[in-house]
Amino acid sequence: MAARNNTSEHLLIVPLSKAKFPDLLAHLKRHFSESGADDFYFTPYDPDDPIGPSGVDFDKVDLPISAPHWQRWFIAIDPQTGNVCGHLDLKADGLRTGSHRCVLGIGMEAQYRGIGLGKILMKTAIDFVRSQASLDWIDLMVFGHNKNAQALYKSFGFSQVGIVHDRFRIGQTKIDDVIMTLKIR
Ligand SMILES: CC(C)(COP(=O)(O)OP(=O)(O)OC[C@H]1O[C@@H](n2cnc3c(N)ncnc32)[C@H](O)[C@@H]1OP(=O)(O)O)[C@@H](O)C(=O)NCCC(=O)NCCS
Repeated sequence: MAARNNTSEHLLIVPLSKAKFPDLLAHLKRHFSESGADDFYFTPYDPDDPIGPSGVDFDKVDLPISAPHWQRWFIAIDPQTGNVCGHLDLKADGLRTGSHRCVLGIGMEAQYRGIGLGKILMKTAIDFVRSQASLDWIDLMVFGHNKNAQALYKSFGFSQVGIVHDRFRIGQTKIDDVIMTLKIR
């Protein structure tokens, strides 16, 4: 389906609020169901596996950045529908000794891709991390075949620091996982 507009200017980018939590969950369900369309996977979750992505935990979005399990979510809302159509999440490393790092995830629904939304969400998230004195690095993982996503990350200064070959197998498909990182300060 074509995007409603061919730019992202009409979309609203906001931090996740409690009121939008159900809309975010609905978006994530739609988004993850698109992985594997045309044999293009972007999540490591086998569609037939009952164990899905850990996703969003609303109790963690209010945790201070010093807490080991904080999360922050930025969402894109289409004002024409009120739906969440894209997201970017930042999650704590999980260990106090890794509290100077965070892990980034991003995704838009298919009809909202390629219109500049990824760039806006990346800039929003990187600005946020820069504003947090205790955060020095952003890490992410991206499939080896996902060249569009890698191009987006490289354009913001992320470098590839590693690759885990044959990290996932979805059906008969072997998937490499590329590790990328950005030094913020
Ligand atoms: C990858 C993704 C996050 C990019 O976001 P997006 O909103 O589509 O990207 P934008 O329109 O902001 O484009 C940003 C850059 O991404 C790259 N890109 C995006 N779509 C592209 C395409 N169809 N072909 C080539 N490059 C593309 C380009 O580098 C582009 O910059 P440019 O326009 O200056 O060339 C988005 O397409 C998506 O959600 N894909 C499916 C889920 C996914 O792959 N998530 C990442 C998992 S690690």
